[in-house]
Amino acid sequence: MLSSEEIIKTELLYGAHNYHPLPVVLKRGEGVFLWDVEGKKYYDFLSAYSAVNQGHCHPKIISALINQSKELTLTSRAFHNNILGEYEKFITSLFGYDKVLPMNTGVEGGETAIKLARKWGYEIKKIPKNNAKIIFVEGNFWGRTLAAISSSTDPSSTNGFGPFMPGYEIIPYNDLKSLENALKDPNVAGFMVEPIQGEAGVVVPDENYLPEAFKLCKKNNVLFIADEVQTGIGRTGKMLCCDHFGIKPDILILGKALSGGVFPVSAILSSNEIMLTIKPGEHGSTFGGNPLACQVAIAALNVVKEEELSDNAKILGIIFREKLNKYINESKIVKSVRGKGLLNAIIINDNNDSNIAWSICLKMASNGLLAKPTHGNIIRFAPPLIINKDQLDDCINIIISVLKEFE
Ligand SMILES: Cc1ncc(COP(=O)(O)O)c(C=O)c1O
Repeated sequence: MLSSEEIIKTELLYGAHNYHPLPVVLKRGEGVFLWDVEGKKYYDFLSAYSAVNQGHCHPKIISALINQSKELTLTSRAFHNNILGEYEKFITSLFGYDKVLPMNTGVEGGETAIKLARKWGYEIKKIPKNNAKIIFVEGNFWGRTLAAISSSTDPSSTNGFGPFMPGYEIIPYNDLKSLENALKDPNVAGFMVEPIQGEAGVVVPDENYLPEAFKLCKKNNVLFIADEVQTGIGRTGKMLCCDHFGIKPDILILGKALSGGVFPVSAILSSNEIMLTIKPGEHGSTFGGNPLACQVAIAALNVVKEEELSDNAKILGIIFREKLNKYINESKIVKSVRGKGLLNAIIINDNNDSNIAWSICLKMASNGLLAKPTHGNIIRFAPPLIINKDQLDDCINIIISVLKEFE
């Protein structure tokens, strides 16, 4: 059997160097736990960036995967398959929309949402040809394609990759005045926003930001597009983060936990008026809506409902922040903890020097908990939503004892 070190060497030799993972080589996952090739057990406190909300290898999701994979995996949309309609009915009624458009990765969900908003802009809002504009906010992250990085304000996403997509305007996050001004342009088709910015470091906007932003969009006949790829499917203590504010986005983007982390499944949901502006042949994907993905997504969503994972995220999230806040009161190394449900982060007090956050994550790994720094001095904590109170307490003890070593 190869050691972690040997496996990492092989990756470095033959793989592109577009990631900088923690030096841990994982072999098996079950529930909230992961095991490395040497047999060491860890709590997963990242959940593959919130894709594994239902826990690793959830038996109901894996069983859906196995059963359907023996029957039919892919037909393309050149033909109908017997599962797609059932899935479409299920997911639209679950989230309260008329129509769904299935895709694969989260970034494709974002691309699809922007294409749809543009199409609606031309056909319904009557924006002059090729003049539609989409508004984004600073610090957004929705993937790595050219369309996605064109809206990015992070130099590590954009440097060396221009030229960029036209038709975008980027305004500050959590700033209603800027949004109000930007919406004055009659060519704006959509405003795309993460209810909480995940990759930017779990940045939570003011309580009134989303409902007021939604109202401003309505007032100006602009589509409110919610990127809930990371915040959706129970993560923040409700099925959708927008549910905390009683707002229903015109276009909703889902991904990640839509498959329970089994493979890429994304979707956008919207009304008949908006969705039906896209006609046959105008958008699609070979794999989008494949029967395997449909069965996996139905199982993954059912697990979230049946196991009441949103409620668990809400209750345990409050405990997590309370206990960390108590510690932070006496801490010199941690500035603050922020988040909603089980999407949280701590901000390390080191003037953006990423080394301390990285060293803390290495130490937590050696003590049996896997988390990763984001944007230098921020450590995100996002365990699978099936975690129980005793496990969470165990994890809080690991985190605090490691932080104490760095004080
Ligand atoms: C909010 C958000 N949108 C979109 C994406 C892109 O998803 P994917 O990596 O599946 O393309 C991510 C990924 O982290 C995300 O956090």
